[in-house]
Amino acid sequence: MHAIKIQKGVKLKTKSIWGQPPSRLYGLIRLAEHTFNGHFNACVVGCSDGKFVFPFARKGHHVTGYDVDKSALYGATKEFPIYEKTKPIPYAGLTTLPPFPTEPRTYKGCIEKVKIEGLNHLVKIEERDFYALPPKQKFDVVFTSCSYQYSLNASKTLEEKTKIIQGIVSDGGYLYIDYMMAIDEQDYDRFPENKYLRKGQMATFFPTEEWQVLHIKENNTPSFEHAHTEHPYHHYHRFGYVLAQKRQR
Ligand SMILES: C[S@@+](CC[C@H](N)C(=O)[O-])C[C@H]1O[C@@H](n2cnc3c(N)ncnc32)[C@H](O)[C@@H]1O
Repeated sequence: MHAIKIQKGVKLKTKSIWGQPPSRLYGLIRLAEHTFNGHFNACVVGCSDGKFVFPFARKGHHVTGYDVDKSALYGATKEFPIYEKTKPIPYAGLTTLPPFPTEPRTYKGCIEKVKIEGLNHLVKIEERDFYALPPKQKFDVVFTSCSYQYSLNASKTLEEKTKIIQGIVSDGGYLYIDYMMAIDEQDYDRFPENKYLRKGQMATFFPTEEWQVLHIKENNTPSFEHAHTEHPYHHYHRFGYVLAQKRQR
C-alpha cells in the first residue's frame, strides 16, 4: 500500500474520510506528554474510522476507541456527494444548501486501518454504546468529538452524558470535548435540549471541586462544513470546545 502524504515530511499509511484532525488535538497530546512524563493512555469516545485515534498511537501512546457505527469500524460502501471543494460559504440563515448527486465509494474501517498502520499493539477498538454502557477502566486522556447529539444518546441529558464521560478520566487526567451547539438557541425543535448545548451550559457541568476548566471556546457563528456521506449537501454546525483537568484526590 502506498503511503499517503499529508504534510511535508509526514507520511501516513491511512487517512480518515473525515479529513485531518485539528491542530488542537496535537496540542492536547503534547500537554499530556508533558504532564505524564511521556507516557499516558487515551480513550476516544466515538472513534469513527480513527481520525482522532491514530495521532495518539503514532506517537506511541496506548489508545482505546469506542463506537457503535459498524460501517466506521468495519468499513462499508456508501453514497458520497460529488462536488468541487469550494471556499467556505458564509452562513446566511439556512442551515443546509442544495444536495449534490452521489456515487458509491468503499472505505476501510478503523479496525482494518489499525492493522495497516501496524499499531495493533497500541490500539484497542471496541464496538460499544459508550453512554449506555461505559467501561470501568479509567484513562489519562479522554477525547470525544461531537458524539452527544446522536439520537441514540437522546434519552440522556447533556449533563448526564458529561458525567458519564467524566467518569472514565483518571485523577489528574484530561477531558477534551468538542460539542455541537444550537445554531438558534431559542429553537428547541431543530436543536433539542438533550442534543445541542446552549452558550455557557457546558461550564456548569464541571464542578470546581472536581475539575479545573483549562480552556473553553464557544463559537457565536456557525461553521461551514462541506457535503459528506451523512449529509450530501453543504451545511453548518456551531461548535464548542472544552478542555478540563480532573483534580487529584
Ligand atoms: C461526529 S462523529 C466523529 C467523526 C467525525 N465526523 C469526525 O470529524 O471525525 C461522532 C462519532 O460518535 C459515535 N457515537 C455517538 N454516540 C455513541 C455512543 N453512544 N457510543 C459510541 N459511539 C458513539 C458515532 O457513531 C460517530 O462515529
